[in-house]
Amino acid sequence: MAMHHKDLVGIETLSPEEITLILDTAEKMAEVSHRPLKKVPALRGKLVVNLFFENSTRTRSSFEIAEKRLSADTLNFSASASSLSKGESLVDTVLNLERMQPDAYVMRHSSPGACQLIRPFTKAVLVNAGDGAHEHPTQALLDALTIRQKKGGFRGLKVLIAGDIAHSRVVRSNVFLLKKMGADVTLCGPATLLPPHLDSLGVKVTTDFDRALDGQDVVMMLRIQLERQKKGLFPSLLEYYKYYGLTEERLRRADREVIVMHPGPINRGVEIASEVADGPYSVILDQVENGVSVRMAILYLLLGGGDDETSHS
Ligand code: CP
Repeated sequence: MAMHHKDLVGIETLSPEEITLILDTAEKMAEVSHRPLKKVPALRGKLVVNLFFENSTRTRSSFEIAEKRLSADTLNFSASASSLSKGESLVDTVLNLERMQPDAYVMRHSSPGACQLIRPFTKAVLVNAGDGAHEHPTQALLDALTIRQKKGGFRGLKVLIAGDIAHSRVVRSNVFLLKKMGADVTLCGPATLLPPHLDSLGVKVTTDFDRALDGQDVVMMLRIQLERQKKGLFPSLLEYYKYYGLTEERLRRADREVIVMHPGPINRGVEIASEVADGPYSVILDQVENGVSVRMAILYLLLGGGDDETSHS
């Protein structure tokens, strides 16, 4: 079994078999991070360019660590310190970097479809690290690995994703993945943060957070993305927390074995109470840990690491 795609631009085009392959490969990669020498030669001699045009803590760090653990050479391209600030376009930037013979670009950009835009101008593998409100495929894959580890699988699992649905690339990638794998998905948020036609994705949609929590196996909270939204979508952050904040009391409505997830960064006291984020049901930092393994797996599978190249340090 191999990946049928040259790039990882989104979850929408992946098959359930490819998703399972990535998760199985990530499980194997996790072991590398716990060795005394955290390095394998799988991608020795490959050049990966990290193109981050938006801020990031988790995704950027874990991609760079994943690249280093696989022995790839890395170039961290800083948009603010580049000639983009002099007006050079994204395509011209890529045309120039292309002559430095990269094998892969990992790109985060505020524009949906940024990977597709540069596809004709590079021979390298493209990995989408988040494009506007479109997709964040590696986040959904690390979320899936966390769910599979904690719950054993996806079929029939009740998953609630709540918060700023309208501005979230995480929700789109997660819905595509969870539906492909057989989960029962509900989306919840204030009406102003629920875009139209969500039900065409095969999910339930509600504005009633308390009732939506009933019996859920997985509750995934989303950050309010103040930087992407116009003012006035809800009265105040205090009011938002009152109706849509995940508190310990609210969480009692979910299944007794519920897990609480969040892609980060978390807004404590806005979409989630600190007691829940730091509490016994939270797997938020497990998600972060799985990010390294999942990103190692993706780079390994797309850049053609050999079967025997993860065993030697
Ligand atoms: N979850 C996530 O994408 O976090 P960062 O923006 O810090 O990368």
